[in-house]
Amino acid sequence: MRILTGLQPSGKLHVGNYFGAMEPAVRLQEQGEAFYFIADYHAMTSSHDAAALRENVRGLAVDFLACGLDPSRAVFFRQSAVPEVNELAWILSTVCPMGLLNKCHSYKDKVAQGIAPSHGLFAYPVLMAADILLYDSNQVPVGKDQKQHLEVTRDLAVKMNETFGEGTVVLPESIIRDDTAVVPGLDGRKMSKSYGNTLPIFGDEKPLRKMIMRIQTDSTPVEEPKPTEDSSILALYKLFASEGDYQTMLADHQNGGVGYGDFKKRLADAYWDFFAPMRARRDEILADPGYVDQVLADGAARARVEAAKVLSRVRKATGLA
Ligand code: ADP
Ligand code: TRP
Repeated sequence: MRILTGLQPSGKLHVGNYFGAMEPAVRLQEQGEAFYFIADYHAMTSSHDAAALRENVRGLAVDFLACGLDPSRAVFFRQSAVPEVNELAWILSTVCPMGLLNKCHSYKDKVAQGIAPSHGLFAYPVLMAADILLYDSNQVPVGKDQKQHLEVTRDLAVKMNETFGEGTVVLPESIIRDDTAVVPGLDGRKMSKSYGNTLPIFGDEKPLRKMIMRIQTDSTPVEEPKPTEDSSILALYKLFASEGDYQTMLADHQNGGVGYGDFKKRLADAYWDFFAPMRARRDEILADPGYVDQVLADGAARARVEAAKVLSRVRKATGLA
Protein backbone atom coordinates (compact mmCIF):
# COMPACT_ATOMS: atom_id res chain seq x y z
CA MET A 1 0.00 0.00 0.00
CA ARG A 2 1.32 3.38 -0.95
CA ILE A 3 0.57 6.34 1.30
CA LEU A 4 1.29 9.82 -0.02
CA THR A 5 0.91 13.28 1.36
CA GLY A 6 2.29 16.74 0.73
CA LEU A 7 2.94 19.62 3.07
CA GLN A 8 3.25 23.23 1.99
CA PRO A 9 6.43 24.96 3.15
CA SER A 10 4.86 27.98 4.70
CA GLY A 11 6.90 29.09 7.65
CA LYS A 12 7.47 27.93 11.18
CA LEU A 13 5.73 24.73 12.20
CA HIS A 14 3.39 25.01 15.14
CA VAL A 15 1.94 22.59 17.65
CA GLY A 16 -1.29 22.31 15.59
CA ASN A 17 0.73 21.20 12.55
CA TYR A 18 2.55 18.68 14.69
CA PHE A 19 -0.53 16.91 16.06
CA GLY A 20 -2.64 17.45 12.93
CA ALA A 21 -0.13 16.47 10.26
CA MET A 22 3.40 15.41 11.24
CA GLU A 23 2.65 13.04 14.08
CA PRO A 24 0.02 11.13 12.02
CA ALA A 25 2.42 11.01 9.05
CA VAL A 26 5.20 9.64 11.24
CA ARG A 27 2.85 6.97 12.59
CA LEU A 28 1.67 6.02 9.08
CA GLN A 29 5.16 5.40 7.75
CA GLU A 30 5.03 2.08 9.65
CA GLN A 31 1.93 0.97 7.77
CA GLY A 32 2.87 1.16 4.14
CA GLU A 33 5.22 2.63 1.64
CA ALA A 34 5.12 6.30 2.49
CA PHE A 35 5.80 9.09 -0.01
CA TYR A 36 6.03 12.48 1.70
CA PHE A 37 6.89 15.62 -0.17
CA ILE A 38 7.31 19.34 0.33
CA ALA A 39 4.83 21.06 -1.97
CA ASP A 40 7.05 23.90 -3.18
CA TYR A 41 5.31 24.34 -6.55
CA HIS A 42 2.05 24.77 -4.66
CA ALA A 43 3.64 27.34 -2.35
CA MET A 44 4.26 29.51 -5.42
CA THR A 45 0.52 30.04 -5.80
CA SER A 46 0.53 32.28 -2.74
CA SER A 47 3.98 33.85 -2.55
CA HIS A 48 6.87 34.81 -4.81
CA ASP A 49 9.76 35.33 -2.45
CA ALA A 50 12.68 33.21 -3.64
CA ALA A 51 14.73 33.51 -0.44
CA ALA A 52 11.72 32.71 1.74
CA LEU A 53 10.80 29.70 -0.39
CA ARG A 54 14.31 28.28 -0.11
CA GLU A 55 14.41 28.86 3.61
CA ASN A 56 10.93 27.43 4.23
CA VAL A 57 11.60 24.29 2.20
CA ARG A 58 14.77 23.64 4.12
CA GLY A 59 13.15 24.48 7.45
CA LEU A 60 10.29 22.09 6.81
CA ALA A 61 12.66 19.32 5.77
CA VAL A 62 14.74 19.74 8.93
CA ASP A 63 11.70 19.94 11.19
CA PHE A 64 9.91 16.98 9.62
CA LEU A 65 13.03 14.83 10.00
CA ALA A 66 13.43 16.03 13.59
CA CYS A 67 9.83 15.05 14.31
CA GLY A 68 10.50 11.46 13.34
CA LEU A 69 10.19 11.13 9.59
CA ASP A 70 12.45 8.18 8.86
CA PRO A 71 14.06 8.48 5.42
CA SER A 72 14.93 4.79 5.41
CA ARG A 73 11.21 4.04 5.49
CA ALA A 74 9.58 7.01 3.79
CA VAL A 75 10.49 8.49 0.43
CA PHE A 76 10.96 12.15 1.34
CA PHE A 77 11.45 14.68 -1.44
CA ARG A 78 10.66 18.10 -2.68
CA GLN A 79 7.88 18.32 -5.25
CA SER A 80 9.89 20.33 -7.76
CA ALA A 81 12.69 17.74 -7.75
CA VAL A 82 10.33 15.58 -9.83
CA PRO A 83 9.31 18.01 -12.59
CA GLU A 84 7.52 15.14 -14.37
CA VAL A 85 4.56 16.07 -12.21
CA ASN A 86 3.98 19.04 -14.51
CA GLU A 87 3.54 16.82 -17.51
CA LEU A 88 0.93 14.75 -15.75
CA ALA A 89 -0.76 17.93 -14.53
CA TRP A 90 -1.01 19.11 -18.11
CA ILE A 91 -2.51 15.85 -19.29
CA LEU A 92 -5.01 15.94 -16.42
CA SER A 93 -5.91 19.52 -17.23
CA THR A 94 -7.00 18.46 -20.71
CA VAL A 95 -9.66 16.15 -19.24
CA CYS A 96 -10.56 18.46 -16.35
CA PRO A 97 -13.93 20.16 -16.82
CA MET A 98 -13.84 23.88 -15.95
CA GLY A 99 -16.91 23.32 -13.79
CA LEU A 100 -14.97 21.01 -11.50
CA LEU A 101 -12.48 23.77 -10.66
CA ASN A 102 -15.09 26.51 -10.63
CA LYS A 103 -16.76 24.96 -7.62
CA CYS A 104 -13.62 24.64 -5.50
CA HIS A 105 -14.05 26.78 -2.42
CA SER A 106 -10.36 26.88 -1.52
CA TYR A 107 -9.70 29.09 -4.57
CA LYS A 108 -12.47 31.48 -3.58
CA ASP A 109 -11.36 31.52 0.05
CA LYS A 110 -7.78 32.31 -0.89
CA VAL A 111 -8.80 35.10 -3.25
CA ALA A 112 -11.02 36.49 -0.49
CA GLN A 113 -7.94 36.47 1.79
CA GLY A 114 -6.14 38.67 -0.71
CA ILE A 115 -4.08 36.11 -2.64
CA ALA A 116 -3.77 37.08 -6.31
CA PRO A 117 -6.21 35.12 -8.50
CA SER A 118 -3.67 33.50 -10.83
CA HIS A 119 -4.12 30.58 -13.19
CA GLY A 120 -1.82 28.57 -10.89
CA LEU A 121 -4.07 29.20 -7.92
CA PHE A 122 -7.12 28.20 -9.95
CA ALA A 123 -5.44 25.07 -11.29
CA TYR A 124 -3.98 24.16 -7.88
CA PRO A 125 -6.24 21.08 -7.51
CA VAL A 126 -5.05 19.71 -10.88
CA LEU A 127 -1.43 19.84 -9.79
CA MET A 128 -2.44 18.22 -6.53
CA ALA A 129 -4.19 15.43 -8.45
CA ALA A 130 -1.00 14.97 -10.47
CA ASP A 131 1.03 14.71 -7.23
CA ILE A 132 -1.19 11.89 -6.11
CA LEU A 133 -1.69 10.01 -9.39
CA LEU A 134 1.97 10.23 -10.43
CA TYR A 135 2.92 7.76 -7.70
CA ASP A 136 -0.02 5.33 -7.98
CA SER A 137 -0.96 6.39 -4.45
CA ASN A 138 -3.53 4.28 -2.64
CA GLN A 139 -4.12 6.36 0.47
CA VAL A 140 -3.84 10.09 0.93
CA PRO A 141 -4.09 11.38 4.50
CA VAL A 142 -5.06 15.05 4.68
CA GLY A 143 -6.83 17.54 6.91
CA LYS A 144 -10.51 18.37 6.44
CA ASP A 145 -9.69 21.49 4.40
CA GLN A 146 -8.28 19.28 1.61
CA LYS A 147 -11.36 17.05 1.27
CA GLN A 148 -12.67 18.76 -1.84
CA HIS A 149 -9.27 18.59 -3.53
CA LEU A 150 -9.24 14.84 -2.97
CA GLU A 151 -12.69 14.60 -4.55
CA VAL A 152 -11.37 16.47 -7.58
CA THR A 153 -8.45 14.02 -7.73
CA ARG A 154 -10.79 11.03 -7.71
CA ASP A 155 -13.02 12.61 -10.36
CA LEU A 156 -9.99 13.21 -12.56
CA ALA A 157 -8.75 9.66 -12.05
CA VAL A 158 -12.12 8.27 -13.14
CA LYS A 159 -12.15 10.62 -16.12
CA MET A 160 -8.64 9.54 -17.17
CA ASN A 161 -9.60 5.89 -17.06
CA GLU A 162 -12.83 6.53 -18.99
CA THR A 163 -11.01 8.54 -21.60
CA PHE A 164 -7.81 6.51 -22.02
CA GLY A 165 -8.72 3.09 -20.72
CA GLU A 166 -9.05 1.35 -17.37
CA GLY A 167 -5.81 1.14 -15.46
CA THR A 168 -4.31 4.33 -16.89
CA VAL A 169 -4.16 5.71 -13.34
CA VAL A 170 -4.85 4.29 -9.89
CA LEU A 171 -7.93 5.56 -8.06
CA PRO A 172 -6.76 6.82 -4.64
CA GLU A 173 -8.66 6.79 -1.35
CA SER A 174 -8.58 9.80 0.89
CA ILE A 175 -8.12 9.49 4.61
CA ILE A 176 -9.66 12.62 6.04
CA ARG A 177 -8.46 13.16 9.57
CA ASP A 178 -11.59 13.96 11.50
CA ASP A 179 -10.77 17.10 13.33
CA THR A 180 -11.57 15.73 16.75
CA ALA A 181 -8.03 16.81 17.43
CA VAL A 182 -8.22 20.48 16.54
CA VAL A 183 -5.41 21.97 18.56
CA PRO A 184 -6.45 25.27 20.13
CA GLY A 185 -4.21 28.28 19.82
CA LEU A 186 -3.01 30.59 22.55
CA ASP A 187 -6.25 32.60 22.28
CA GLY A 188 -8.61 29.60 22.36
CA ARG A 189 -9.44 29.66 18.64
CA LYS A 190 -8.07 26.94 16.33
CA MET A 191 -4.28 27.26 16.26
CA SER A 192 -3.45 28.71 12.85
CA LYS A 193 -0.81 30.98 11.43
CA SER A 194 -3.60 33.07 9.90
CA TYR A 195 -4.80 33.91 13.44
CA GLY A 196 -1.33 34.68 14.80
CA ASN A 197 -2.09 32.50 17.84
CA THR A 198 0.45 29.76 17.28
CA LEU A 199 2.90 28.07 19.59
CA PRO A 200 5.90 27.00 17.47
CA ILE A 201 7.37 23.53 17.90
CA PHE A 202 10.94 24.77 17.81
CA GLY A 203 12.54 27.96 19.01
CA ASP A 204 14.32 29.54 21.94
CA GLU A 205 13.13 28.56 25.36
CA LYS A 206 12.63 31.97 26.95
CA PRO A 207 10.32 33.56 24.37
CA LEU A 208 8.38 30.30 23.97
CA ARG A 209 7.76 30.05 27.71
CA LYS A 210 6.73 33.71 27.70
CA MET A 211 4.13 33.01 25.02
CA ILE A 212 2.57 30.39 27.25
CA MET A 213 2.66 32.66 30.31
CA ARG A 214 0.76 35.28 28.26
CA ILE A 215 -2.22 32.98 27.48
CA GLN A 216 -5.35 35.00 28.27
CA THR A 217 -7.27 33.76 31.30
CA ASP A 218 -10.28 35.04 33.25
CA SER A 219 -10.13 36.77 36.62
CA THR A 220 -11.24 33.86 38.86
CA PRO A 221 -9.42 34.35 42.20
CA VAL A 222 -6.74 31.80 43.12
CA GLU A 223 -8.78 30.07 45.81
CA GLU A 224 -11.86 29.49 43.63
CA PRO A 225 -12.55 26.64 41.14
CA LYS A 226 -11.61 27.47 37.54
CA PRO A 227 -13.68 26.76 34.45
CA THR A 228 -12.49 23.62 32.63
CA GLU A 229 -14.48 23.97 29.42
CA ASP A 230 -12.88 25.74 26.48
CA SER A 231 -9.64 26.06 28.43
CA SER A 232 -6.70 26.14 26.04
CA ILE A 233 -4.35 25.54 28.97
CA LEU A 234 -6.06 22.23 29.76
CA ALA A 235 -6.48 21.22 26.12
CA LEU A 236 -2.81 21.87 25.34
CA TYR A 237 -1.64 20.28 28.58
CA LYS A 238 -3.55 17.09 27.67
CA LEU A 239 -1.42 16.80 24.53
CA PHE A 240 1.89 17.09 26.36
CA ALA A 241 1.42 15.70 29.87
CA SER A 242 0.96 12.17 31.15
CA GLU A 243 -2.63 11.13 31.89
CA GLY A 244 -1.89 11.29 35.62
CA ASP A 245 -0.52 14.84 35.47
CA TYR A 246 -3.45 15.89 33.32
CA GLN A 247 -5.92 14.50 35.86
CA THR A 248 -4.10 16.37 38.62
CA MET A 249 -4.37 19.64 36.74
CA LEU A 250 -8.04 18.97 36.02
CA ALA A 251 -8.71 18.33 39.71
CA ASP A 252 -6.77 21.47 40.65
CA HIS A 253 -9.06 23.45 38.35
CA GLN A 254 -12.17 21.90 39.86
CA ASN A 255 -11.08 22.25 43.48
CA GLY A 256 -9.62 25.74 43.37
CA GLY A 257 -6.62 26.86 45.37
CA VAL A 258 -4.22 26.97 42.42
CA GLY A 259 -3.69 30.06 40.25
CA TYR A 260 -3.44 30.34 36.49
CA GLY A 261 0.25 31.26 36.74
CA ASP A 262 0.96 27.87 38.25
CA PHE A 263 -1.06 26.04 35.55
CA LYS A 264 0.79 27.91 32.82
CA LYS A 265 4.12 27.03 34.33
CA ARG A 266 3.17 23.34 34.38
CA LEU A 267 2.02 23.64 30.77
CA ALA A 268 5.28 25.32 29.72
CA ASP A 269 7.33 22.59 31.43
CA ALA A 270 5.31 19.77 29.84
CA TYR A 271 5.55 21.40 26.40
CA TRP A 272 9.27 21.89 26.73
CA ASP A 273 9.84 18.28 27.85
CA PHE A 274 7.55 16.83 25.17
CA PHE A 275 9.61 18.28 22.33
CA ALA A 276 13.01 17.70 23.99
CA PRO A 277 13.91 14.56 21.97
CA MET A 278 12.90 16.27 18.73
CA ARG A 279 14.86 19.37 19.64
CA ALA A 280 17.93 17.20 20.28
CA ARG A 281 17.45 15.43 16.95
CA ARG A 282 17.02 18.77 15.24
CA ASP A 283 20.31 20.05 16.66
CA GLU A 284 22.04 16.95 15.30
CA ILE A 285 20.53 17.49 11.88
CA LEU A 286 21.50 21.16 11.87
CA ALA A 287 25.05 20.26 12.81
CA ASP A 288 25.38 18.22 9.61
CA PRO A 289 24.27 20.52 6.78
CA GLY A 290 24.87 17.92 4.06
CA TYR A 291 22.48 15.45 5.67
CA VAL A 292 19.24 17.12 4.63
CA ASP A 293 20.45 17.65 1.07
CA GLN A 294 21.39 13.99 0.87
CA VAL A 295 18.03 12.80 2.23
CA LEU A 296 16.13 14.97 -0.24
CA ALA A 297 18.35 13.94 -3.15
CA ASP A 298 17.90 10.24 -2.35
CA GLY A 299 14.17 10.72 -1.94
CA ALA A 300 13.90 12.54 -5.26
CA ALA A 301 15.82 9.77 -7.02
CA ARG A 302 13.51 7.11 -5.60
CA ALA A 303 10.41 9.18 -6.40
CA ARG A 304 11.57 9.76 -9.97
CA VAL A 305 11.84 6.04 -10.62
CA GLU A 306 8.18 5.61 -9.66
CA ALA A 307 7.11 8.72 -11.54
CA ALA A 308 8.83 7.52 -14.70
CA LYS A 309 6.95 4.21 -14.59
CA VAL A 310 3.56 5.83 -14.20
CA LEU A 311 4.23 8.54 -16.74
CA SER A 312 5.38 6.04 -19.32
CA ARG A 313 2.11 4.12 -18.84
CA VAL A 314 0.10 7.35 -19.15
CA ARG A 315 2.06 8.46 -22.22
CA LYS A 316 1.28 5.19 -23.95
CA ALA A 317 -2.40 5.29 -23.01
CA THR A 318 -2.79 8.86 -24.26
CA GLY A 319 -0.88 8.42 -27.52
CA LEU A 320 2.00 10.66 -26.50
CA ALA A 321 4.19 7.60 -26.84
P1 ADP B 1 -2.32 26.95 9.29
O1 ADP B 1 -3.77 26.83 9.71
O2 ADP B 1 -1.46 27.38 10.41
O3 ADP B 1 -2.14 27.78 8.03
P2 ADP B 1 -1.89 24.75 7.51
O4 ADP B 1 -3.21 24.99 6.86
O5 ADP B 1 -0.64 25.06 6.75
O6 ADP B 1 -1.85 25.48 8.94
O7 ADP B 1 -1.88 23.23 7.99
C1 ADP B 1 -0.90 22.27 7.68
C2 ADP B 1 -1.37 20.96 8.30
O8 ADP B 1 -1.50 21.08 9.73
C3 ADP B 1 -2.73 20.50 7.81
O9 ADP B 1 -2.69 19.09 7.62
C4 ADP B 1 -3.70 20.85 8.92
O10 ADP B 1 -4.79 19.96 8.97
C5 ADP B 1 -2.83 20.74 10.16
N1 ADP B 1 -3.25 21.71 11.18
C6 ADP B 1 -3.07 23.06 11.14
N2 ADP B 1 -3.56 23.66 12.24
C7 ADP B 1 -4.09 22.67 13.01
C8 ADP B 1 -4.74 22.66 14.30
N3 ADP B 1 -4.94 23.76 15.01
N4 ADP B 1 -5.15 21.47 14.78
C9 ADP B 1 -4.95 20.31 14.07
N5 ADP B 1 -4.33 20.27 12.86
C10 ADP B 1 -3.89 21.42 12.33
N1 TRP C 1 -2.72 21.18 -0.74
C1 TRP C 1 -2.12 20.53 0.41
C2 TRP C 1 -2.20 21.48 1.62
O1 TRP C 1 -2.22 22.67 1.45
C3 TRP C 1 -0.68 20.15 0.14
C4 TRP C 1 -0.59 19.16 -0.98
C5 TRP C 1 -0.12 19.40 -2.24
C6 TRP C 1 -0.98 17.80 -0.92
N2 TRP C 1 -0.18 18.26 -2.98
C7 TRP C 1 -0.69 17.26 -2.22
C8 TRP C 1 -1.52 16.99 0.07
C9 TRP C 1 -0.98 15.93 -2.51
C10 TRP C 1 -1.78 15.65 -0.24
C11 TRP C 1 -1.52 15.13 -1.53
O2 TRP C 1 -2.19 21.00 2.74
